[in-house]
Amino acid sequence: MAFSNLLVEDSGAIRRITLNRPDKLNALNHATLTELHAAFEAAGTDADIRVVVLTGAGPKAFVAGADIAEMSGLSPVQARDFSRHGQRLMSRIEQLGKPVLAMVNGFALGGGLELAMACHLRIAADTAKLGQPEVNLGLIPGFGGSQRLLRLVGRGAALELCLLGAPIDATRAAQLGLVTRVVPADQLETETQKLAEQLAAAAPQALRGVLDTVLTGGEAPLEAGLDYETQAFALAFSTEDMKEGTGAFLARRKPQFTGR
Ligand code: COA
Repeated sequence: MAFSNLLVEDSGAIRRITLNRPDKLNALNHATLTELHAAFEAAGTDADIRVVVLTGAGPKAFVAGADIAEMSGLSPVQARDFSRHGQRLMSRIEQLGKPVLAMVNGFALGGGLELAMACHLRIAADTAKLGQPEVNLGLIPGFGGSQRLLRLVGRGAALELCLLGAPIDATRAAQLGLVTRVVPADQLETETQKLAEQLAAAAPQALRGVLDTVLTGGEAPLEAGLDYETQAFALAFSTEDMKEGTGAFLARRKPQFTGR
């Protein structure tokens, strides 16, 4: 699949998707959103891919937001469609069924933070800046930011970030639980690779069960969420990987998960 605004590379079971508009700090225009959707669709349906790493090209930005130049001319109806287009992408990523790791290598602002929040884990360079600055443009988040930020960091910090519009640094983001891990910028690649390899070696159906129960079950009332967990727990007993994982523990050896 050929893309104009993305680079896609595989290394074993790890797929890396790089937003590639560095001259515009990887801003999300309509075409890039469409390409990302196709790239994630392909990653989701490729059984050989177990983990996706998402990052931005260039030294400055993960993604500096939705493309303001493109967005400024939208009618309200077009803005509704643009918001939906972005939200559908974020939901596609969140519902991929395999872990998606955002490697936040610089600015993650507006749509960039929304994109990072749709990923399951976020590893950030200590130089990264994250925020929802839409209010400074007379706007509000439109790709799910108001909802995912609220769920990740709670109402107080979500309101602080969205009302004040000021970016925060990676350390503060980690304190809020907005990023999973902060590493020195020159170690971002190696630390991300380590995490991705750990996930690629894990039992894919177990990872999927975790994603489903936390993301989908977590949106339901507690009793329904617990029931959802029980069904997913029972389903894990149908996998060869569950037999491999428990068997390897008892035999004191390292498990080899096949995804079956
Ligand atoms: N949409 C469109 N273009 C963007 C962009 C965005 N969200 N963010 C940056 N760019 C473009 C700039 O217009 C500039 O393009 P040009 O060289 O053709 O003029 C280029 O990317 C480099 O950005 P620049 O502003 O010169 O870099 P900087 O280092 O001075 O500042 C930021 C970096 C991130 C602070 C600044 O670009 C910024 O505030 N961006 C917008 C962030 C935002 O509000 N995002 C939410 C959008 S809803």
